[in-house]
Amino acid sequence: MTTAATYARFGAREAHGLSPAYERLALAVSQDGELLALLEALPPAKRQPNLLFAVVRLLGGPVEDPAAFHAYTLANWPAIEAELRARSTQTNEAGRCAVLLPVLAALPQPLALLEVGASAGLCLYPDRYAYRYGEHLLGGGEPVLDCVATGMAPPTRRPEVVWRAGLDLNPLDVTDPADVAWLDALIWPEHTHRRTRLRAAAAVAAADPPLLVRGDLVDDLPALAAQAPAGATLVVFHTSVLYLVPESRRAAFAEVVRALPGHWIANEAPDVLRYDALPAPPTEVHHNVLALDGRPLAWTRGHGQAITWFG
Ligand SMILES: C[S@@+](CC[C@H](N)C(=O)[O-])C[C@H]1O[C@@H](n2cnc3c(N)ncnc32)[C@H](O)[C@@H]1O
Repeated sequence: MTTAATYARFGAREAHGLSPAYERLALAVSQDGELLALLEALPPAKRQPNLLFAVVRLLGGPVEDPAAFHAYTLANWPAIEAELRARSTQTNEAGRCAVLLPVLAALPQPLALLEVGASAGLCLYPDRYAYRYGEHLLGGGEPVLDCVATGMAPPTRRPEVVWRAGLDLNPLDVTDPADVAWLDALIWPEHTHRRTRLRAAAAVAAADPPLLVRGDLVDDLPALAAQAPAGATLVVFHTSVLYLVPESRRAAFAEVVRALPGHWIANEAPDVLRYDALPAPPTEVHHNVLALDGRPLAWTRGHGQAITWFG
């Protein structure tokens, strides 16, 4: 896909209905020869709309007005290019715990959680967050993760977690304000509720930081899994990670994870992790598939805001 087509698709498929500012911006960039030429001089992974827009936000540039964005980006390209080359999209969305919870709560307790592609590890605290599935509240304190659950009874308990660890090529540190600033810049402009949630989840994680290991989800998973305590159910999980991993490595990962004891929870896009038969998704907007041990169970919205059970 050309860079222009990538931006047009991002605007129409991903930002549409969720972020008017990014929808506008992505469409403008898709037709902006000067910006496209600068982006095309970068490696493909560094041309992504989400990465460019987050870097401009991090540097204090404008993302609401495409003309102002164009002027700022051209004037500040050396600084922007340096950040694009140094960073990657590591959005860490605690809200995704709301779609993991129904599966986690149903497994034999207690759990030893191991998240691959953990970013700052905010999805490693499903036992500490509060949840609201429609009228049904679970737990107390902040953040409260709102989720519309369809085709299922809401979970009635949170899991008991006795060990939590994350693996990431570049773990972020929730106690480092610069890392939290990057996580904040990755949140789309209008999503103030997600910004509030990030701060609340970061406070939960900072109070009891997880074990985060720098490493690859294929090569380094068995060694980290071996550190999980006996007497707990090992759960290896990942959400919105495998789209960043080449296809051959996804297959290698599936082989490694299947060879481990315990359970495997995947929450990934259906074109990234494929299943033999899936029902139609509830709507046309982007959905992930939640699966346990390779068996698809539910459609989930990208930030954990809805789950539609079919398993
Ligand atoms: C989009 S973030 C998602 C973070 C988190 N799972 C969540 O849902 O909030 C994807 C993360 O996967 C990590 N990642 C990508 N490829 C990886 C690999 N081969 N091994 C380990 N981590 C990887 C990235 O560094 C990034 O932090």
